[in-house]
Amino acid sequence: MAYLDKKLKLKHPIIMAPMFLVSNVNMIISAHKSGIIGCLPAHNFRTQEALEKALQELTDKKIKFGMNLIVNKSNTNYEWQIESVLKFGCDFIITSLGNPKNTIELAHKQNIIVFCDVTNIEYAKKCEALGADAVVGVSSDAGGHLGQIPSAELTKILKQNIDIPVLSSGGVGDYKSYHSHLKNKSDGVLIGSVFIACTESEVNHKYKQAMVDYTDKDIVITSKLSGTPCTIINTPAVQKMGTEENWIEKILNRNKSLKKLLKKIRFLRSWKTLEKAAFSANYDSIWCAGKSIKYVKSIEPVKKIVERITKK
Ligand SMILES: Cc1cc2nc3c(=O)[nH]c(=O)nc-3n(C[C@H](O)[C@H](O)[C@H](O)COP(=O)(O)O)c2cc1C
Repeated sequence: MAYLDKKLKLKHPIIMAPMFLVSNVNMIISAHKSGIIGCLPAHNFRTQEALEKALQELTDKKIKFGMNLIVNKSNTNYEWQIESVLKFGCDFIITSLGNPKNTIELAHKQNIIVFCDVTNIEYAKKCEALGADAVVGVSSDAGGHLGQIPSAELTKILKQNIDIPVLSSGGVGDYKSYHSHLKNKSDGVLIGSVFIACTESEVNHKYKQAMVDYTDKDIVITSKLSGTPCTIINTPAVQKMGTEENWIEKILNRNKSLKKLLKKIRFLRSWKTLEKAAFSANYDSIWCAGKSIKYVKSIEPVKKIVERITKK
């Protein structure tokens, strides 16, 4: 038994990873029914009312679930998000981008455990010192905002350098890739991209079909959307947009305060671009996905995806 299934009483040590715009309540319920646990990004809800409606449904149905909070300054909604998460409670919180100190302190007062996204040893040590219950090693194999170190290596070096459990994120989509993480002594695994094409997801059909039609060779990295490297499918719309920053963006990025401002503007702009692409069938196809797209062969329910990954 790994740390994660033991701690959260799961059939499999798997978290359905939080995915901006993709994760929804129905996916979390199906994850729960399939023996894994889902994590819902608080930033998928525009208002506190919408977030609390989702939290109410999950708690009423007694579903096990986690919440994901962006804890850096770009998230201007952090205060009401944490307030609602603490009000309803959840099984764990995953913090991403930024300093998790405040989240850890508040969550621990309510006995909610906190896992922190990390991409290197230095940051993992900081999170451990702040009292994180585990870290999530976001590797260079991950979809979304990826790290720089391949998953097997990242898990190994994190385990050598910190004393809290290490969960691994990136590159899982079948039995072999899942078990390689467990053999590597990972304390649990996060899986994102392969769930984009699940039946329960509400993104538009073209996005789901792209998950079936494209493969890992079609995944490119761009900083153009959010200012932080992010994996997207190399569709004709992306080829037209280009993945490299233009000269104005490069100059602005060299100035520290302008860089911060640019990051905020981009965050809001990319939010809108991705949202339109995810939900409107006629909009430019700028879709986020990682290299584990190669495991997606059809659009299927969460239960089937979990069975495929966990059964030999
Ligand atoms: C479409 C998409 C959206 C994502 N959004 C978030 C997010 O909002 N918060 C977060 O912490 N990670 C996010 N991630 C990263 C995932 O939580 C996870 O680290 C990653 O999907 C694991 O790699 P995999 O896609 O190979 O399974 C996202 C990933 C994808 C593919």
